[in-house]
Amino acid sequence: GKGTYPFYMLKEIDEQPAVMRKLSQLYTDDAGNVTVDHAIIDALGQADRIYIIAAGTSYNAGYASKYVLETLTEKPVELGIASEWGYNMPRLSEKPFFIFLSQSGETADSRQVLVKTNELGIPSLTVTNVPGSTLSREASFTMLLHAGPEIAVASTKAYTAQIAALSFLAKAVGQAIGNEAAAAFDIVHELSLVAQSIEATLSEKELIESKVAGLLSDTRNAFYIGRGQDYYVSMEASLKLKEISYIQCEGFAAGELKHGTIALIEEGTPVIALISNNPKVAAHTRGNVSEVVARGAHVITIVEQEAATTEDDIIINNVHPYLSSISMVIPTQLIAYYASLHRGLDVDKPRNLAKSVTVE
Ligand code: F6R
Repeated sequence: GKGTYPFYMLKEIDEQPAVMRKLSQLYTDDAGNVTVDHAIIDALGQADRIYIIAAGTSYNAGYASKYVLETLTEKPVELGIASEWGYNMPRLSEKPFFIFLSQSGETADSRQVLVKTNELGIPSLTVTNVPGSTLSREASFTMLLHAGPEIAVASTKAYTAQIAALSFLAKAVGQAIGNEAAAAFDIVHELSLVAQSIEATLSEKELIESKVAGLLSDTRNAFYIGRGQDYYVSMEASLKLKEISYIQCEGFAAGELKHGTIALIEEGTPVIALISNNPKVAAHTRGNVSEVVARGAHVITIVEQEAATTEDDIIINNVHPYLSSISMVIPTQLIAYYASLHRGLDVDKPRNLAKSVTVE
């Protein structure tokens, strides 16, 4: 049950530090070595390209995991929208390896692609929260998310668990192929810092609520902007806001806004900027913030500590860049939650949606 929580979503948001620690326990042995099934490491190690197939939030988690996977496995990672690839499979590489990312393991759109890759004899891995689920049974291999049951329709802890689980996979494959960054990446330590960073953000719920309550209680639209990893988080942040608050929201690559979409910025349009500590892009995102401020946008900044100033609204403890999407998404989950709450909506059961989508 949800205990003292008003909604499952808030309970599941709060469970995320524990999920991070549990994944560290379950994907390492007593000596601290990463324990991903050798058969998975071998099969993936032989591939020339990784394809991640997913829908919705799981698709966004795939994007958030692309950087760590590409860096440590030294293989290109391509994302596929499940409902598209079922009928419009693009030209594949010579030795593809498919990863099906799915909280429920039952998403019909993803299964449609898995049926095709099985026909083609392509090796596959399902990363899912549900042991024995359809996608798990039908793929060559399975990795579990160990996030515990996710009841709220809006997915939160499954998204962060997916990024963590794929980081363990990236570390394991990278080590097996002798990648130096993989050997140097102390994932258990870094995930413990992530858990602490999440806890610090969760202890500031009232601050986050106060920043968005007025702003998002009667707006019709909003934007999330960011670059690099923050762009991927902005896609997830906007999906979450849309599905439970019914505010039309776009996650946008910050630099792309000026190529047309900035026309939508008016007096008071909420723009939430995500700025993690990436020196290559942080200043550029700041520039894009100034552009929308000049057009009347009401901006909220969510910034990693090392990149932050006293002017910023929500400050997040720094974590390893491979994992920053996990800690950066937390305030956006809370923003969606409070926006929905302040609009008097059923946070856990938004209209038109079901927890697992078993139709194509
Ligand atoms: C968003 C949400 C959906 C699911 C999507 C995929 O909060 O819940 O977008 O993420 O339907 O579901 P799974 O991961 O079960 O395949």
